Amino acid sequence: MEIKTAVILISLLALVNCQDRTPADVCKSDRTKVSFCNDQNNCNATAVILCFGNGLGTTIPCANSQPYCIVSDKGDSCTSTNPCSSSSSNGGATSLFQCTSVGYYPNPLNCSQYFFCSTNENKTEFVPTLYNCPNGNVFSPSTGSYCTRYNSWLNNCKTVNCQNATQNVTQKYIQISYGFNSQYYALCIAGNDPTYPLIFVCPANTVPNLNSFPAICDYRCWRTGFFENTLDNSKYFECYINNYLRYESIERTCPEGAYFNSTKSECVVKTRSFNAAVNDARRRY
Ligand SMILES: *[C@@H]1O[C@H](CO)[C@@H](O)[C@H](O)[C@H]1NC(C)=O
Ligand SMILES: *[C@@H]1O[C@H](CO)[C@@H](O)[C@H](O)[C@H]1NC(C)=O
Ligand SMILES: *[C@@H]1O[C@H](CO)[C@@H](O)[C@H](O)[C@H]1NC(C)=O
Ligand SMILES: *[C@@H]1O[C@H](CO)[C@@H](O)[C@H](O)[C@H]1NC(C)=O
Ligand SMILES: *[C@@H]1O[C@H](CO)[C@@H](O)[C@H](O)[C@H]1NC(C)=O
Ligand SMILES: *[C@@H]1O[C@H](CO)[C@@H](O)[C@H](O)[C@H]1NC(C)=O
Repeated sequence: MEIKTAVILISLLALVNCQDRTPADVCKSDRTKVSFCNDQNNCNATAVILCFGNGLGTTIPCANSQPYCIVSDKGDSCTSTNPCSSSSSNGGATSLFQCTSVGYYPNPLNCSQYFFCSTNENKTEFVPTLYNCPNGNVFSPSTGSYCTRYNSWLNNCKTVNCQNATQNVTQKYIQISYGFNSQYYALCIAGNDPTYPLIFVCPANTVPNLNSFPAICDYRCWRTGFFENTLDNSKYFECYINNYLRYESIERTCPEGAYFNSTKSECVVKTRSFNAAVNDARRRY
């Protein structure tokens, strides 16, 4: 009992000395979550800040059994595994991983981790953020949480090995399948760190055609018509029947300034109303 109290006292003292953030810093009115690690650099965090209101909250030290703090978009929390130890390859993976677009991507070297790629504020580059699945879980694009229980029978831990990639296999794609989901594929790049492949993803309802280079995402057509590209709303897929009486798809791009509206199944003008565009056209002729 006495030892426990002493430990709590020491950790409280440590907190007072080292904590980098206070409720006033993080409990802003525009905050996106209710809990935050108490240090900007979560590797140094010792507690979580729980927010109750605008600028209000309390700092709760992490227990001895869960001494670390992990950042999550749902709310930061105390954790037993050190998210910053070198084995979790936090810094390493993030610096080697190259986003190819916005969205969720598996870490090709560790099936328990995944990245969310966003653009920086200037939209000049993609920025990856690394996430760890809960213990015993692996990346799974079809589940809402992007993680699912590891199952040795389903063999659902997917990694990509580029170790034997040579200069001349650069243009060879590797399919990464998650059950019925075949949207992800990888490319070993000669000259890059040969163990770190590039990962690509096709939009929903499409499959990559890996025989072409670069790979093309083919829509899984089941009727003719126009269908949305879930990764890029300025593009859409057209399904038609080819000369062999089979469905085939082609990717098309909306006119400049327009985006595809899946309800209307057509490109619509983004900023101005349709009427304004029509009046504009009338004036021109
Ligand atoms: C935070 O931790 C890093 C190592 O993870 C260390 O180099 C740095 O000095 C620490 N910063 C503070 C303010 O404690
Ligand atoms: C993979 O990631 C998990 C979760 O972060 C981590 O516990 C594990 O050590 C990592 N494995 C390797 C080989 O880096
Ligand atoms: C955004 O652009 C401005 C000026 O063009 C630059 O000063 C700033 O560093 C850029 N920010 C990022 C995150 O790249
Ligand atoms: C790479 O090549 C070596 C030697 O040819 C072989 O022993 C090893 O199994 C290969 N590794 C992979 C992942 O293919
Ligand atoms: C790779 O291809 C180039 C030409 O494209 C050829 O000159 C070279 O010998 C090839 N290297 C290997 C290891 O096959
Ligand atoms: C698509 O068009 C419908 C019908 O005009 C409209 O209600 C809906 O808001 C549009 N969707 C988007 C994402 O703009």
